[in-house]
Amino acid sequence: QDILKVGIAGLGTVGASVVRLMAKRDNLLSEAAGRRIKVVAVSARSRDKDRGIVLDGMRWVEDPIALATDSGIDVFVELIGGAGDPAKQAVEAALGAGKAVVTANKALLATHGTALARRAEKKGVALNFEAAVAGGIPVIKTLREGLVGNAIERVYGILNGTCNYILSRMADEGISFEDCLKDAQRLGYAEADPTFDVDGFDTAHKLALLTSLAFGTLVDTKGISIEGIRSIKPVDLKMADELGYRVKLLGVALRTADGVEQRVHPTFVPKDSAIAQVNGVLNAVAIDADAVDLTLVGPGAGGDATASAVIADIADIARGHRTAPFIRPVASLTQPTRAPL
Ligand code: HSE
Repeated sequence: QDILKVGIAGLGTVGASVVRLMAKRDNLLSEAAGRRIKVVAVSARSRDKDRGIVLDGMRWVEDPIALATDSGIDVFVELIGGAGDPAKQAVEAALGAGKAVVTANKALLATHGTALARRAEKKGVALNFEAAVAGGIPVIKTLREGLVGNAIERVYGILNGTCNYILSRMADEGISFEDCLKDAQRLGYAEADPTFDVDGFDTAHKLALLTSLAFGTLVDTKGISIEGIRSIKPVDLKMADELGYRVKLLGVALRTADGVEQRVHPTFVPKDSAIAQVNGVLNAVAIDADAVDLTLVGPGAGGDATASAVIADIADIARGHRTAPFIRPVASLTQPTRAPL
């Protein structure tokens, strides 16, 4: 079979890891996918920056939109980030040109996911986003494929590595919120604008995607009630500890008599519960369904963990494995309800 030709826009922490891991796993990956996969072109803001990766043999394309529609690529990998342009325009252009798209961009999908999925379905191309939720945990595949025989009652979890890292260190070491946040930024876990992490928006973006996959609803962040972790102090966590609890920022979606409810807030979880043991930058997603209850735990942020999910999405496309972007075609998705205030 022909080589699958990949173009990557965005060479930040995740993009650089994708290039590095794909080069390192070249043979294994080709064997697993049944054909060679090659990054043939890249696009990023600065060409000269030292990213510790080798870009030999890859074309440099200044404009990400030009890369998205480049006739030399089959798959467009969007790692620019942000709900607006140029990420939005680039993904729209790629889908419009009939290219498969892989993206890690939860903000974009949470805001425009339904319209983009519609576009992908119309063109009959893949729109894969494993890396957009819970970094390296294959939760999208689990919901979209593995649990398709279940009726899901509830999905909840720790969906932001930065917040979990901050809360864990504040609780265990008594370090201030501000210092923990600085460390999370230094380690490359936090968003470009960390408000998205600590005020709960990033968790809400990811929750909206999980909700759609779990319950067949439209991607909707407007109905989510959101509270972040900014006002939590080490003393609050110490008191929680004395009472037998850890505090976790959870995203929760559950089926109720009135529809599907979504919320994000700091939550007391009993110290002996599975979710209380998930500390540091780890994420966890718990799924309660009629046939299966399970909890997935793994790295939720960081270059290599997120790149692992991006590569899995590319390999699926190489195999010709196609599913609807959401669990069923967009036309049949229903509206989730608003969370009670
Ligand atoms: N800032 C995000 C987090 C990155 O901390 O989880 C992964 O989406």
